[in-house]
Amino acid sequence: MSQNIESVLHEQRVFEPPVAFSRSARMQAADLERLRREAREDPLGYWARLAREHIHWQKPFTRVLDDSAAPNYRWFTDGELNVSVNCLDLHLTERADKTAIIFEGEAGDVRKLTYGQLHAEVSRCANSLRALGIEPGDRVVIYMPLVPEAVVAMQACARIGAVHSVVFGGFSALSLKDRIEDAGARCVITADGGWRGGQIVELKAATDKALADGCHSVEHVIVLRRSGQAISMQEGRDHWWHDIVATQASVCEPVWVNAEHPLFLLYTSGSTGRPKGIQHSSAGYFLNAKLTSQWVFDLRDDDVFWCTADVGWITGHSYVAYGPLAAGATLVLYEGAPTYPDGGRFWRVCAAHGVSIFYTAPTAIRALMKLGDEIPAAYDLSKIRLLGSVGEPINPEAWMWYHRVIGGGRCPIVDTWWQTETGAIMIAPIPGVTATKPGSCTQALPGIEAEIVDDEGRPVMAADAGGYLVIRRPWPSMLRTIWGDNARYIETYWSKFQNRYYVAGDSAHRDADGYFWIMGRIDDVLNVAGHRLGTMEIESALVAHPRVAEAAVVGRPHEIKGESVFAYVVCKGQRPSESELATLKIELRAWVGEQLGAIAKPDELRIVENLPKTRSGKIMRRLLRAIARGESITQDVSTLENPAILEQLRGG
Ligand code: WT7
Repeated sequence: MSQNIESVLHEQRVFEPPVAFSRSARMQAADLERLRREAREDPLGYWARLAREHIHWQKPFTRVLDDSAAPNYRWFTDGELNVSVNCLDLHLTERADKTAIIFEGEAGDVRKLTYGQLHAEVSRCANSLRALGIEPGDRVVIYMPLVPEAVVAMQACARIGAVHSVVFGGFSALSLKDRIEDAGARCVITADGGWRGGQIVELKAATDKALADGCHSVEHVIVLRRSGQAISMQEGRDHWWHDIVATQASVCEPVWVNAEHPLFLLYTSGSTGRPKGIQHSSAGYFLNAKLTSQWVFDLRDDDVFWCTADVGWITGHSYVAYGPLAAGATLVLYEGAPTYPDGGRFWRVCAAHGVSIFYTAPTAIRALMKLGDEIPAAYDLSKIRLLGSVGEPINPEAWMWYHRVIGGGRCPIVDTWWQTETGAIMIAPIPGVTATKPGSCTQALPGIEAEIVDDEGRPVMAADAGGYLVIRRPWPSMLRTIWGDNARYIETYWSKFQNRYYVAGDSAHRDADGYFWIMGRIDDVLNVAGHRLGTMEIESALVAHPRVAEAAVVGRPHEIKGESVFAYVVCKGQRPSESELATLKIELRAWVGEQLGAIAKPDELRIVENLPKTRSGKIMRRLLRAIARGESITQDVSTLENPAILEQLRGG
């Protein structure tokens, strides 16, 4: 097998869409061609037509794109809609009794909700938010396990025009606090705890800690009972979900909001110490989330769609909470860890619920691949007809394994490139049409003008030459701004090429067929197990420790996680003794876990006397990266302030 994989790397094998799949696919080659032509000839007319056909408007729009404040683009500006109505109410005539959500808890508990029940639950939750005085535009932070109520809470916010900001349950109390404060949230929806790897994740305790000092904007906390352990409830502030939500009426008049009304904020890491609140709109976001769900995943009425992402990430917004519901699909929600209680869990869930479309991250694929072929072979995966990948480049070896072992050689794989900022999939195959190549996300979707440019912004024409990945035209689901910091929005995404292109922050190249191959981030952002981490964020967390004077964090390739976190730390005062070093390292890792969350803990930590700097005082990151990778040093070290430290940095 591994020889086979080697040859794939060199051969650049091409996989035509399987005939059986293509025959019944929603989108045929001619449809795709028609869409591409329409988008090319009249981009605004194209998006306007799709927005009219795919959105139920309370008040139709007359303006398609307002670029008067570019690059703060606004779409469908005078239209009014409600996203929750578009996801739920529209299905009540034909799909009220169709299963919307199949939920499986980590302990094996299964619960199903029909569209009718989900609609009622969302209405109850929306009524309870309203009863607490939450108004359109107010921010609500959701800090929950991956249970149906998390989706209910998001949809409930959308129903009353409140702006949700989901914070991943794996983030620490301090990260939660930063996000609550930045968003100025009035309400937090959480749970006593959730299950992960057989342990309880203490969400309410973390919420209490976050609210203990600061977070003065928070008036109410709604607490779902999930794990059942004892927690403390603060009189007047904290309300049990089962008291406040369950008693409400199951109908709720929606609030019709403007197309540009913010649907949600989602914090993501950038190249500074502070995460940024990516702000998405209602109509534009919804449009692309729905279209891509149908186009890329070929969703049909009898499909069971499982996107394994948590709602704390953008993937869990667009392909759990919004897109699949908009498309009227049945989705699977699984609360726990992929390998709990054993490495067969994902495949057991697929088999038990008849999953037909499975969407996950390369890091999960690699981790499960390592456990061997026998594990998935023990489960009936024959219902799966389409596989998807997201979050980082998928290496050909993992692609081949996914294709052969999970897809039984019969399923197309859609490798989908996009970002928190893009709101929806941008570059991906159309499964019944596009031939795929292991490791390539193939071509941009119709209407998305992806391009590769050089430092001066000129298109890179030569096949296989790398450059900046940019998007040449605005698209409906693009981020609108960074919450509270529009200057940072312009600086981060637009200024590099004088506001002409959206700059994704990735480098990429195209091959002779015009296929895109993503090479990685060009900024100080790491991609660890498909999650974005800012090196600066980890550095600030480290220097917040009383013993740390300075820190530099770099990424290092990792077999399963894609990238791992490598930290160089300089201590205050005297260099710790050998025996102190080991305990200090443990303490610092735990410290970062507390500051940011377990996913940000450095995998390796090297305590050094000083960091390599140029004479002008800049940390030589490229050098640190090379050392972390164990590469021989090729760069010029003559400007190094203290050449003697090289040995120490190497761990000698
Ligand atoms: C970054 C965005 C999109 C949801 C998950 C991550 C990387 C994403 C791919 C892919 C190669 C990918 C990029 C991008 N990325 N998908 N299919 N192939 N790289 O969202 O946290 O906003 O991260 O993830 O580097 O910029 P995110």
